Amino acid sequence: MTLPRLKILAIESSCDETGLAILEVSGSKFKIRGNVLNSQIKIHQKTHGVVPEVAARRHIETINGLFEKLLKDSKVKIKDIDLIAVTHGPGLIGSLLVGTEFAKTVASTFNKPLLGINHLKAHLHANYFNLETGEVKDIRYPAIGLLISGGHTELILLKSMKDCQMIGDTLDDAVGESFDKVAKLLGLSYPGGPSVAKLALEGNPNAIELPMPLHNRPDYNFSYSGLKTAVRVLIQNGRIQSPAQRANLAAAFQQTAIEHLLEKTTRAIRDHRAKTLIVAGGVSANKYLRERLSSMITPDLDIQVPAFELCTDNAQMIAMSAYVEYLNNKKVLKSDWRKIKVDPSLNI
Ligand code: KG4
Ligand code: ZN
Repeated sequence: MTLPRLKILAIESSCDETGLAILEVSGSKFKIRGNVLNSQIKIHQKTHGVVPEVAARRHIETINGLFEKLLKDSKVKIKDIDLIAVTHGPGLIGSLLVGTEFAKTVASTFNKPLLGINHLKAHLHANYFNLETGEVKDIRYPAIGLLISGGHTELILLKSMKDCQMIGDTLDDAVGESFDKVAKLLGLSYPGGPSVAKLALEGNPNAIELPMPLHNRPDYNFSYSGLKTAVRVLIQNGRIQSPAQRANLAAAFQQTAIEHLLEKTTRAIRDHRAKTLIVAGGVSANKYLRERLSSMITPDLDIQVPAFELCTDNAQMIAMSAYVEYLNNKKVLKSDWRKIKVDPSLNI
């Protein structure tokens, strides 16, 4: 595929990661010219979750230094940037404001176009880029997107690169959020996904039976609060005492949480005769999920899972999403920074 040439500077600050990146596309390849990231995980571990004001303040403290480091590392000059992209939603309002105001300042100072990027779409769009080969992938449509993060659990029908529509959502907690809450109940560290997954490796998932949410229901929705409550009740009733029982509970929870995702995803793929499944968001880093997904690949179904570094929040995916938006509509190069507004509850 011959790709139009473009250099994009991207900024991400929707939650607790401050990221900046420069993506360059030319000919048939793309290159990440620079990528810097400051994770606030250590700070939020103390409170077992993100305190919005603390996150926003930390973005303010780090963003300028990261920007200088990005320019120095990449050796790219701002004057050579064609488009600036920034996450304008969804996310925490204070965090979003830091990134967007910073982006507006750079765009107005250097007279560059500024495009607002939907963080959810960006998670999906990261799958269009193969970090190992530097190639932009040809996705076969229709495709189903499974977006699984700390704030979202959604099934998305993509009829083309342009046309995407949500067909399923969580009725209560997001899957990542349920991992975080179960980790807290088990006394494990934040974020809960990796710590629950680690403990689950030592357990037998079939030693404890947990209720499968919304089982056999003919829709594409998810529910995680009942599963979390079932874990809490077992702990409160004193049924989980030994280290082996804790590991079994972590394994049973992980298995049920992931099987629930797969049941609904399989239904969506079948009903829409999807040719590709695109998995995205922080929970796509889960190894048990990846193993189960690899067993679903057939000649009729491609499965796209992001590289580990693209699973959780980062600015590379924001730049990638901006490039997809540019392929869809070249007018994005005329986007005016004055029109960017943050939208904490922006949807796909
Ligand atoms: O996409 P992300 O970085 O931020 C949001 O936009 O929410 O996702 C973070 C979520 C957290 O809830 C975290 O516990 C979960 O992704 N997560 C995982 C794993 N790694 C991160 N969940 C399950 N297994 C993992 N290995
Ligand atoms: Zn995210």
